[in-house]
Amino acid sequence: MRRLFHPSTDRRTAPQWSVEEIAEEYAYPPLGEGSGGAGSWLRGNMVASLDGAVHHQGRSQPLSCKADMRIFGVLRALADVVVVGAQTVRQEGYRPAKPRSGFAGRRAALGQAPVPAIAVVSAGLELDFTQPLFTEPVVPTLLVTGRGAPEGRVARARRAGAEVVFAGEGAAADPARVPAALAAHGLRRQLTEGGPKLLGEFAGAGVLDELCLSIAPRIVAGPAPRIMNGPLLPDPDEFTLEGVLEEGGFLFARYRRARAGTDRAE
Ligand SMILES: NC(=O)c1ccc[n+]([C@@H]2O[C@H](COP(=O)([O-])OP(=O)(O)OC[C@H]3O[C@@H](n4cnc5c(N)ncnc54)[C@H](OP(=O)(O)O)[C@@H]3O)[C@@H](O)[C@H]2O)c1
Repeated sequence: MRRLFHPSTDRRTAPQWSVEEIAEEYAYPPLGEGSGGAGSWLRGNMVASLDGAVHHQGRSQPLSCKADMRIFGVLRALADVVVVGAQTVRQEGYRPAKPRSGFAGRRAALGQAPVPAIAVVSAGLELDFTQPLFTEPVVPTLLVTGRGAPEGRVARARRAGAEVVFAGEGAAADPARVPAALAAHGLRRQLTEGGPKLLGEFAGAGVLDELCLSIAPRIVAGPAPRIMNGPLLPDPDEFTLEGVLEEGGFLFARYRRARAGTDRAE
């Protein structure tokens, strides 16, 4: 047992990290180590209240803070693709990612587009295609679904400019096959921002390689789910702590799946 933090000393003495240092801390590991195969690495980023709630009145913003948004922005700036469930897109009014000048050189050197693509996972494909997410993206927004998705809706999504990625043969996407399907499009550094249903499916499929968890020093009680709201795992899946940052009483923990890459979904 050891103490990682004490407010009376650490707040006075610990230097504040720059965005560049945060980016180094969260750099993706060598590609090829991920559980989803095809050189993918799937990282999740979520914020939860002290009592485990993932939203307050349907939005995650009341649980967040400036430091959380700084990490959120850095994680996006490091990713090839942001994978998000359709319900979060609808509820949070998702917009396309914006280029950040501070990351332009780094992204170009890695052969990345100026911004990560947003990949919306949906079975029903009932999305508002008049929104900027589809009409104004810097790189085309992706829709991830199953080959059995309704043809008319797939065609409508394509007409709206979305690139459709199939993962699995059913009406819904097979979560075990999503990382490899995106990697086949050259999108290997993957970041999922949830929501809880999608994250729970990735965890259940054994393809979530890493979890970045922000813990907000707030409680909200009420009915909000935890960060994963999917099928029960037959056995607990072990993660190892890779780092903890703190600002303003928020904790920013990063965990890596102990079995990442050892039981590939391929
Ligand atoms: N605290 C945080 O960090 C955080 C992060 C994200 C979201 N949130 C909150 O979480 C709430 C929304 O989360 P949620 O759990 O209800 O929904 P969600 O996971 O964002 O989205 C669920 C939807 O994703 C699609 N989907 C999921 N798995 C799929 C699969 N295998 N194949 C095809 N489509 C699939 C379906 O879309 P269709 O219905 O279109 O078929 C499903 O209805 C919001 O209140 C949001 O604010 C919080």
